[in-house]
Amino acid sequence: MNDRKNTAFGWILGSGIVALGLWIISSNYFDEERPEEMGYAIAGAEEAGGGETAGPDLGTLLASGSVEAGEKIFAKCTACHTANQGGANGIGPNLFGVLGKPVGSHVAGFAYSPALSGHGGEWNWETMDAWLTSPKKFASGTKMSFAGLSKPEDRANVMLYLESNGGAPAKPAPAAPAAEETAAADGATGEAEAAPAPAE
Ligand code: HEC
Repeated sequence: MNDRKNTAFGWILGSGIVALGLWIISSNYFDEERPEEMGYAIAGAEEAGGGETAGPDLGTLLASGSVEAGEKIFAKCTACHTANQGGANGIGPNLFGVLGKPVGSHVAGFAYSPALSGHGGEWNWETMDAWLTSPKKFASGTKMSFAGLSKPEDRANVMLYLESNGGAPAKPAPAAPAAEETAAADGATGEAEAAPAPAE
């Protein structure tokens, strides 16, 4: 009798060990799929405080960016924001016409955090670029729980999308080397005072 019980017990224990082994093997197997995301983080040159390390300057990115690309990026924002005129506030305020408005007070009646409503300044291309790089660095204590957009071109494009919903102040001029291509586009806005604006 005892022998049979021991045998049965042995089988149960044995199959438990086999199951554990399979689990270890399979979890190792699934670990292998991770690096996909890790590679992505490097591509965005995270934390590039100044952002001016290598890539084109903001003016150039804005001149070569597109509203359509920005609309795709804005999909990351729609969980909390609308951008259309008269759009509802969500977790975040409606963003129609936010460029050119004072920081943290554009939607009357929205419960901004003191970090943002007390920040001061206005949303222009540079402040918006800094905010979208890292909301927490721009206004420590903000309740916009969004990590930020690490790619400068994503920020430029999403700002162009915001501009297409309610306008914006004049854009920064592209740095000199790229100026030839974009001088015509800039001239059209009539705000070329500070730009070198070569004739050709
Ligand atoms: C998880 C929700 C959430 C997401 C996602 C989010 N936001 Fe926000 N956003 C907020 C909240 C909340 C505030 C108000 C912050 C405060 O008061 O501190 C805010 C504020 C802002 C403001 C300032 C508005 C003003 O009136 O001054 C801008 C501009 C903005 N968000 C743009 C964006 C953009 C662009 C994206 C996408 C790239 C985005 N947000 C993604 C929640 C979000």
